[in-house]
Amino acid sequence: MIVTGAAQGIGKATAQRLAEEGMIVAVADRNFAGAEQVAQAIGAANGRALALSLDVANRESWAEGVARVVDAFGGIDGLVNNAGMTRDSSLLKMTDADWEAVIDVNLRGPWLGCQIVIPHMTTKGGAIVNLSSESRWGAFGQSNYSSAKAGLVGLTRTVAFEHARHRVRVNAVAPGTVNTAMVEAVPDDIRKGWLRNIPMRREADPAEIASVIAFLLSEDASYVTGQIIGVNGGSII
Ligand SMILES: NC(=O)c1ccc[n+]([C@@H]2O[C@H](COP(=O)([O-])OP(=O)(O)OC[C@H]3O[C@@H](n4cnc5c(N)ncnc54)[C@H](O)[C@@H]3O)[C@@H](O)[C@H]2O)c1
Repeated sequence: MIVTGAAQGIGKATAQRLAEEGMIVAVADRNFAGAEQVAQAIGAANGRALALSLDVANRESWAEGVARVVDAFGGIDGLVNNAGMTRDSSLLKMTDADWEAVIDVNLRGPWLGCQIVIPHMTTKGGAIVNLSSESRWGAFGQSNYSSAKAGLVGLTRTVAFEHARHRVRVNAVAPGTVNTAMVEAVPDDIRKGWLRNIPMRREADPAEIASVIAFLLSEDASYVTGQIIGVNGGSII
């Protein structure tokens, strides 16, 4: 299993969960020190985890990272395209750099990941989970991020259609608000306002997203592909 953006937040919780389930995990992040810490904690010493320095927006970085995983573990049966970032501002203030950085990491990154990892899955099959978001429906100040997360829906369904016959399943989870560094950056009053629209009236813990990702990667989800699973405390926007 490769989990991108696994140095912290949802990616870290996912790496931990998959390791608890006995899987060998490549902990990939552009924050290599953080990835190393997570890999150590979940079993690098026993060869059950590997830290990877990976920039998901960079094709060469993917090629090198995937080659290392194949070398170390003999193949790849799962990929979690989790790495993500925001650079919010209103449409009229958003710069080209804000647009490009967010599209590159959140949309081009998963596209590259699918393209480079799937050839290693086609003999035995495999599963991919992409991290979309409730923001895919549109979100104030997030024309870049919303577009990327909506784009991931199209990517997920297209790759699922194209590779179903190779027994590669591709799904997305679309979290609502999850208590991670990404959300800690949001001002308190806005965060409290969001809670009013969540029937469960609380944010998710990263482990509550990780458990759904683990299900989608598992054989329990063997007939599930091309789906976007909301994990959002009951929100229906
Ligand atoms: N937190 C939320 O409320 C929420 C809601 C919906 C969707 N999501 C999505 O879930 C995913 C994880 O979010 P999070 O809240 O854990 O974020 P986070 O900011 O806590 O962690 C993101 C991780 O991705 C890594 N990363 C960023 N750019 C990278 C790159 N180019 N290459 C490799 N790694 C990179 C960072 O170093 C970091 O470790 C993201 O795709 C995010 O958009 C989060």
